[in-house]
Amino acid sequence: MIPEYLISFNLDSVPVEDVDCLIVGSGIAGWRAAAELEGLRVLVACKKNPYDGSTYHAQGGIAVAMFPPDSPQAHFKDTVSAGCFINNESAVQILVNEGIDRVKELIEWGCKFDRSSGSFDRTKEAAHSFSRILHARGDATGKEVVHTLLSKISEMPGIILRGNFFLVDLITLENAVRGGIFYDETTGNLIFIKAKKTIVASGGFGQLFQETTNPAAITGDLQSAVFRKGGKLGDMEFYQFHPTTLYMAGVPRFLISESIRGEGGILININGERFMKNYHSAMELAPRDVVSRAIVSEMRRTGSTCVFLDLTKLNPDFLVSRFPQIYRFCLEYGIDITKDLIPVRPCAHYAMGGIVTDEFGRTNLENLFACGEVACTGVHGANRLASNSLLEGLVFGARAGMKARDEISGSSHSNDFQIPQYRVQQHDSPFIDVYDLGRSIKSLMWKNVGIERDGQHLEEAISKLKAWSRYIFLREFSSPAGWEVQNMFILSLVMTYAAFKRQESRGGHYRKDFPEIDDRNWKKSQIFVKHNFFC
Ligand code: SIN
Repeated sequence: MIPEYLISFNLDSVPVEDVDCLIVGSGIAGWRAAAELEGLRVLVACKKNPYDGSTYHAQGGIAVAMFPPDSPQAHFKDTVSAGCFINNESAVQILVNEGIDRVKELIEWGCKFDRSSGSFDRTKEAAHSFSRILHARGDATGKEVVHTLLSKISEMPGIILRGNFFLVDLITLENAVRGGIFYDETTGNLIFIKAKKTIVASGGFGQLFQETTNPAAITGDLQSAVFRKGGKLGDMEFYQFHPTTLYMAGVPRFLISESIRGEGGILININGERFMKNYHSAMELAPRDVVSRAIVSEMRRTGSTCVFLDLTKLNPDFLVSRFPQIYRFCLEYGIDITKDLIPVRPCAHYAMGGIVTDEFGRTNLENLFACGEVACTGVHGANRLASNSLLEGLVFGARAGMKARDEISGSSHSNDFQIPQYRVQQHDSPFIDVYDLGRSIKSLMWKNVGIERDGQHLEEAISKLKAWSRYIFLREFSSPAGWEVQNMFILSLVMTYAAFKRQESRGGHYRKDFPEIDDRNWKKSQIFVKHNFFC
């Protein structure tokens, strides 16, 4: 039922460009990988532009254990405890140890983390035992990181960026990836990028859900393309919902950074009660899954559509200088965060699961690497520790880049091969309203596969997705809107099935019908590949 390719092609009749390394995605992991590829021909393909991805919008910061008495061991402990002890521990060791050098290097490359009186400012976020989150431009860390990496890359002439470049399919020959076929939105044409190595760093899939902090482009296209070609997806049931996003009709679901709670912001319900004391001893700094479920429970109990962040006890001047972006955004919609309550509720935020890789970003498909949120090294386990994601992008992006470079220079790779033509099976193709179908997928995933799940709703979701599968691949689309919906459909199916099978609750996967952790049966990851995915 899941096809190998979304489009028909004859690569003899489309333009071809030949590179050493193709990088799909232009966030922290992709650029950090690119920084290792000096002297090679590298094409960085971006679905929209580098300012439209998750990295650029990252607010909180980068967690790094650089300041004693904090230590990599303490960071390790916090990471596996947030991950509910199914993290890949050797990946976590790499993250917390190599992370220190990667952050120092970023600083050398010009990244200006905020400082006061000469020392770095640091924040504490949920489930961290030390204040170890470095931030920049107040609450605009992602912007500073992207600008730093772009300026580093601009010194490397072999690296070119292509924007509005949508990867439709990865091209393989005998289980080895040979590049990708792209739709260039600027010209409306297809183009084949032939590559010795391909590094996927395209972010998560928050757009599977109706409510998300993720930019519109984050529809999981690459996870789906890799799965179609026989790549492994792991930990797909573990999804993180961020507790606090601005909730006002017609307003984008703008993230209100957890660091605002780290600096003393409190949560109250519609009756003005500080409710987190009833749910967890760490109150507002409990793990994200706990806070998200507590908010849902309070909304249900009080019959309201949101709760509120109260910052009114904090120093107004501090708030404006520490959170300038949040202050300005809320003010545009009439909320002065120094005086007014901020209406918030949880939204889909971060995928712990994705394309299964080893600690060098290698996947089970030859020549294909993945790093950053798109990948699943197992570093996050069942729940990511706040602000570990930018660090992950730096550490595993660098590792994937180094390994790809070594493999390119260590072998006599040739880009001289012939790819057979491919035809999508012809059917009578009925009209499909892709926007309606996209909305239906998002609404189904939000209601049935969201913050709280149970067997009955998961089963219902699987049967709806199966019903849609009878026609969703009958039509061959010729533009991104259709391909995105096909990709969203594939990932929804894998995620829902993984959530249905895991009969326990752990981190970002909460089952009302199995509310406890079941270490005896479930202290393990689930991995799915297309050929054994019988759903
Ligand atoms: C935040 O600033 O709350 C988000 C940071 C993260 O997801 O780690």
